[in-house]
Amino acid sequence: MDSSKPYVICHMLGSVDGRIKQDIWGFKDHHKYFEETAEKIAADAWLVGRVTMQEFSSPTTPDLNNTVIVSREDFVALKSATYAVVIDPSGKCFWDTNMVSTEHVIEVLTESVSDGYLEHLRNNKVSYIFGGKDSLNLELVLRKLRQLFDIQTVRIDGGGHVNGSFLKANLIDEFSLVLAPVADGTIGTPTVFEAEEGYGNRMATQFKIKSVDRIYDDFLWIRYLVVRDSVNSR
Ligand SMILES: NC(=O)c1ccc[n+]([C@@H]2O[C@H](COP(=O)([O-])OP(=O)(O)OC[C@H]3O[C@@H](n4cnc5c(N)ncnc54)[C@H](OP(=O)(O)O)[C@@H]3O)[C@@H](O)[C@H]2O)c1
Repeated sequence: MDSSKPYVICHMLGSVDGRIKQDIWGFKDHHKYFEETAEKIAADAWLVGRVTMQEFSSPTTPDLNNTVIVSREDFVALKSATYAVVIDPSGKCFWDTNMVSTEHVIEVLTESVSDGYLEHLRNNKVSYIFGGKDSLNLELVLRKLRQLFDIQTVRIDGGGHVNGSFLKANLIDEFSLVLAPVADGTIGTPTVFEAEEGYGNRMATQFKIKSVDRIYDDFLWIRYLVVRDSVNSR
């Protein structure tokens, strides 16, 4: 079994000031700027945070009363060509299908989830993996995605908090930014990377340009490679 991590590409649509919620951007079809570029990035899976996935999962909360203890073992419901992965540590996304579009759903959980929630996932044949007891080890999560589902490349599609946690853990290899020609300016909304409150010991992640394309007249699609060990290199 291959125990290395998949190649990780983070893909986002951002305003010139790095905001990612498009509520006031005034585009007729804002999904296309994200989706049409995302489709050009070859990947076996896309991965999002719990808040973003709740836009795709079931809006109804099922009754999770359960008296059966479900062991904390990874559950592979099925193997698919492509996957939709959600970082959902305490099990807040509910499902009445195990697919988002053509992708099979994989829930990334901590062991603190309830037995009732695990039974809910099993009943709906949603796969799940554990990334830690009370908090997630994202490197372990990536290795499990490769080992259990043969995911070689994963595209992280936001939101800002999930991007920021992978950035902070130094697990991103490429960043693909569709830069929208808007200044948003809303204070307090998520930005492309929400990694840490204030300045800690962390240094910013540096990038090197892989390609730049002008698209849809006034948008830029900038693809960056992460520069490792970049301190004092510029
Ligand atoms: N412009 C774009 O390209 C784009 C793309 C995607 C999404 N969006 C927008 O972004 C917004 C959501 O972004 P967001 O930053 O608020 O939320 P998010 O990243 O989608 O989800 C954040 C949640 O994911 C879980 N999570 C993420 N990293 C974790 C970690 N390392 N350990 C444990 N849990 C972790 C936590 O869930 P719990 O709270 O359950 O613990 C956290 O609250 C939405 O409005 C969406 O539409 C925009």
